[in-house]
Amino acid sequence: MRIDILTVLPELLESPFNHSIIKRGKDKGLIDIQVHDIRTFSEDKHKRVDDYAFSGGAGMVMTIQPIESAINHLRSQRDYDEIIYMTPDAPTLTQRTANMLSLKKNIIILCGHYKGVDQRIRDNFITREISIGDYVLTGGELAAAIVVDSVIRLIPGVISDETSALTDSFQDNLLSPPVYTRPAEYKGWKVPEILLSGNEKLVEEWKMKEAYRITKERRPDLLEDNE
Ligand code: ADE
Repeated sequence: MRIDILTVLPELLESPFNHSIIKRGKDKGLIDIQVHDIRTFSEDKHKRVDDYAFSGGAGMVMTIQPIESAINHLRSQRDYDEIIYMTPDAPTLTQRTANMLSLKKNIIILCGHYKGVDQRIRDNFITREISIGDYVLTGGELAAAIVVDSVIRLIPGVISDETSALTDSFQDNLLSPPVYTRPAEYKGWKVPEILLSGNEKLVEEWKMKEAYRITKERRPDLLEDNE
């Protein structure tokens, strides 16, 4: 899978993609993440990428030209399945969206800044808009990093234990049951007996019951979605 990220702050994305699991996915050739500085595509003599909003008010708007040039440059090299815009005024990222995106081959992610991008970019280029939650960040970069992380860990081979992504919270609209490791008893705090029983069927039943209990307690809205 190839992911091209368009941003005015490429430095912000240097660290998240060069460590741990994402780095391993890159090293194995399973994912290719390229970060592009939108400014380098600006035809303005001062390399400006923003301007005042016609509607007035505080805040600058990202202009069309550098973004269009960047997208066209990428599209001249390969076909893209999705051109995603990170913005708070969009549907919220869910596990279902991450699952769906993990099946794509090439995607572009555009990070908004200032007051966002000129609406005509959204109308004419963007195929999907994603928010990571009902709060406003200073830009779309950290949000893009979260989308990329949630997607690439689902690509077979990126995380070593492939089944573990399938049993994550949200995969079946349930939160995960609690997990325990050794020792079986620590300062009198005991691991639930059933997990030590070695009876796989009972353990599975316990996990399912706990997943329902926790979901009902913390996120009842997820259970409604299942109906
Ligand atoms: N840019 C600023 N805030 C954002 C959010 N919540 N989600 C996605 N992109 C954003």
